[in-house]
Amino acid sequence: MNEKVETLKKELKEKLEKISSLAELGAVKAEFLGKKGKITELSSMIKDLSPMEKKDFGKLLNEIKTFAEDLVQEKQELIETMIMNDKLESERIDVTLPGTTIKCGSPNMLEGMIEDLEELFLNMGYDVVEGPEVEKDLYNFELLNLPKGHPARDAQDTFYLKDDELLLRSQTSPVQIRTMLANEGKSHIRIICPGKTYRRDDDDATHSHQFTQMEGLLIDEGISLADLKGTFDVIAKHLFGQDVETRFRSSFYPFTEPSVELDVSCFNCGNKGCSICKNTGWITVGGAGMVHPKVLANCGYDPEKVSGFAFGFGVERLAMLKYGVTDVRTFYLNDLRNNSDRKDV
Ligand code: DAH
Repeated sequence: MNEKVETLKKELKEKLEKISSLAELGAVKAEFLGKKGKITELSSMIKDLSPMEKKDFGKLLNEIKTFAEDLVQEKQELIETMIMNDKLESERIDVTLPGTTIKCGSPNMLEGMIEDLEELFLNMGYDVVEGPEVEKDLYNFELLNLPKGHPARDAQDTFYLKDDELLLRSQTSPVQIRTMLANEGKSHIRIICPGKTYRRDDDDATHSHQFTQMEGLLIDEGISLADLKGTFDVIAKHLFGQDVETRFRSSFYPFTEPSVELDVSCFNCGNKGCSICKNTGWITVGGAGMVHPKVLANCGYDPEKVSGFAFGFGVERLAMLKYGVTDVRTFYLNDLRNNSDRKDV
C-alpha cells in the first residue's frame, strides 16, 4: 500500500512540474483529488482491510490528501504569481516618455476684453445692461438727436429690416435711450452696455460690417466733464498701464454737448511718436461727452436738474491696440492658424 501511495505522490509531483496554467492545474487537481480522483479512489480499498490495518490506512490516506492539497495550492500560487508578473511586464508604462501636447483654448480676446471692463465698472458701481441688436430707428437715431436727414447718419449707414423704422443697431448708444426711458426720469443711472453693432462697411483690416462696442452712461445731479475725465483716466490706466496719460480732444456727436474724442498717450513709444500712434504720440480709443439736454428731455429727464456723461468704445479697437492685432477680421475667424499676429499665443 505504501508503495502505491509513493507512486501516486511521485506521479502528482511530475505532472505538476510540467504544467503552467490554471486550467491545466484544474485538470490535475480533478485527476487526483476530484470525486473520482486517484487519491479519492484509494479510500474505497478500506473496506477490504482488517480493523488494525484500517487505522493505519486512514492515517496514510489523510497524509497523502494533505500532501496533494498542499502541493496543488503551492503550484496555484506559483502560477498566479507568474500570470501577475506577465501582466505587469506587458502593461508597463514608461513614465519618462514625453507626453502628447494638448492644445488648450482660451477665451476670445473680445470676450476677455469685455469681461475685464465689466469687472472694472462693476467695481465702480455700474450695472451691466443689454439691448437688442434689432433696434428701432427711433432709439438708434431719432431720440439720440439724429433726426432723419441728419448728415451724421451717413457715417452710421446700417442694415434695415422690412421698412425704414427697424434696423440692425449701428451703435450701442440706443441702450442709453432705453435705460433712461425705463427709469422715467426718476433715478440716477450708472450703466455700461457691451454688445454687437452693425454698419454697411466693406470688410478690410480695420473695418467690419459687424463689430462690438462698449457704451457707458452716468446720470446724476451735478455731473461735469471732470467726472468723465476721472473715469476715463481709470479706464485708460487699467487697460494700458499706470504710465499713460489721457486727454480730451474736442469733437462732435449729436447726442452729446460738448463732445470729445478720448485719447491716451501712446503706450508703445511713450508719447515720442511711432507707427501705432501715427507719429502723434496719442491714440484715440473712443468718443464721449456730456449727454445733450435734448436727449435728456427726450427721455423724461429734466436737464435743469440732472446732467450726465456718456462714452462709447470700440472693443475691437481696444483689443487690437492692447494685443497688437493688425487685422480686425482675425477676431471672427476662429481659426488658430490666423492668429499668428497675436502677441500672447
Ligand atoms: N456711438 C458713437 C459711435 O458709434 C460713440 C459714442 C460717442 C458713444 C460719444 C457715446 C458718446 O456714448 O457719448 O461712433
